[in-house]
Amino acid sequence: MRVIIEEDYEAMSKKAALLVASQINLKPNAVLGLATGETPLGMYRQLIKMYRKGEIDFSEVITFNLDEYYRLPPDNSRSYHYYMQENFFNHINIHPGNTHLPDGMAADIDEECSRYEEMIRQNGGIDLQILGVGSNGHIGFNEPAERLNVTTHLVSLTEETIRANSRFFNSPDDVPRKAVSVGIATILKARRIILLASGRNKARAIKKTVNGYVDTKVPSSLLQTHPEVTLIIDQEAASLL
Ligand code: F6R
Repeated sequence: MRVIIEEDYEAMSKKAALLVASQINLKPNAVLGLATGETPLGMYRQLIKMYRKGEIDFSEVITFNLDEYYRLPPDNSRSYHYYMQENFFNHINIHPGNTHLPDGMAADIDEECSRYEEMIRQNGGIDLQILGVGSNGHIGFNEPAERLNVTTHLVSLTEETIRANSRFFNSPDDVPRKAVSVGIATILKARRIILLASGRNKARAIKKTVNGYVDTKVPSSLLQTHPEVTLIIDQEAASLL
């Protein structure tokens, strides 16, 4: 596991964008695994800037997002479908048909989970997976537990995650209690993984990710078993290392 410590959020975001850009320049039809939340916003802004300067071409890029809330329609401004359009896809030349998120509205969720997993497989798997991390160590919405789901599945969010994500909603009561998330093996099958973390509230999770035991109660610690993981974190998130 490689750990890159940057001065602040801006520097972290620029570094991450450079790594994504080099992946795309190396393989124009790269398959990217993408995350939502607050952490990757700066990286998306940098990638949009680089696209506008003609430094990246997304026309062949394929993306698969990690997760989506259960039963939140894609046109709801809190959905991850909406987030991706607003913060990234609407501003670059990616083909809409090449962008994928789990469908939390699907009538048969089990079937949707299998379909999503199969689609990733048919596209040759993820070349570069971008991750954020919850303060409880979740990656995607793989929450701390005795046992972790291997593939894409419906998950009940923990109280800690509901509280953390309520900042994007009017109140904690409005946060969906469930989400569809790729599984831990879906993540670990990616050829390369970049995990981003910023701020003091991520410091404990980062410490356990890097130095702790591999423990399903800290899902991010499983990244220690992957040969190509780079953590790009700011000084605050690195403060307990
Ligand atoms: C989002 C996701 C989550 C977030 C995590 C951190 O697609 O999969 O694991 O990366 O909850 O969220 P932020 O960046 O908002 O602190």
